[in-house]
Amino acid sequence: MRRPLIAGNWKMNTDHAAAVSLAEGVAKGAGDIDKADLLVCPPFIYLESVAKALDSSPVALGAQNMYAQPNGAFTGETSASMLTDVGAEYVILGHSERRNIIGETDGMVNEKTLAALEAGLVPIVCVGELLEQREASKTGEVIAQQFAGSLAGLSADQVGKTVIAYEPVWAIGTGKVATPEQAEEVHADLRRLLAESYNGEIAEKVRILYGGSVKPGNAAELISQPNVDGALVGGASLKPDDFLGIAAAV
Ligand code: 13P
Repeated sequence: MRRPLIAGNWKMNTDHAAAVSLAEGVAKGAGDIDKADLLVCPPFIYLESVAKALDSSPVALGAQNMYAQPNGAFTGETSASMLTDVGAEYVILGHSERRNIIGETDGMVNEKTLAALEAGLVPIVCVGELLEQREASKTGEVIAQQFAGSLAGLSADQVGKTVIAYEPVWAIGTGKVATPEQAEEVHADLRRLLAESYNGEIAEKVRILYGGSVKPGNAAELISQPNVDGALVGGASLKPDDFLGIAAAV
């Protein structure tokens, strides 16, 4: 049985004091959550302070991005080993904001995924279609392409250590959540792709998170879908009560 993961993507929000206080709030309530793993992903600059605030709590720490190279002349970038050095265990890769605003390609996401696994980080690889792609009935095609491109060259063992997040771009930050049926359809497709590309055992093991306007009020119905193994939460992860409310809905 896959244990649900509730992950907070703080994006480019908080300042130092707010990041520490948010982490403390989540850590404080985490003891009451027994049916899900919790993860917070603050901005790079606050990782170390948030790590301290989470110390001795069951809440895991993750980053929102990294660079694929281990070190060197890559001004402004952050490597996987720098993330593990400050206590991160997870890294979000290929988020739609990085794909669509920063211009990341499946190839770049793929290099980062391999480098993250190499460094012992758990990659959370994001896929998701744009509204026009859904309206043109291209969702399945887009997801299959991002899946294949982002996970190319991973061994079955490596895929087994990876988390996948389905985030329909039209549902991110819009308040327009996917229906449980829409989410389940894509999640079931992703699990079928895992079974076909690797094997049934791996497909059963990999956690597939849903992201896009998840709130305490809609989380239970989404996460009760057979192939939805948790949530990647944006806006609602910025308030401890909302974030913990989503986890409590599992
Ligand atoms: P919202 O929960 O704000 O829609 O953001 C979702 C998201 O992008 C999480 O990575």
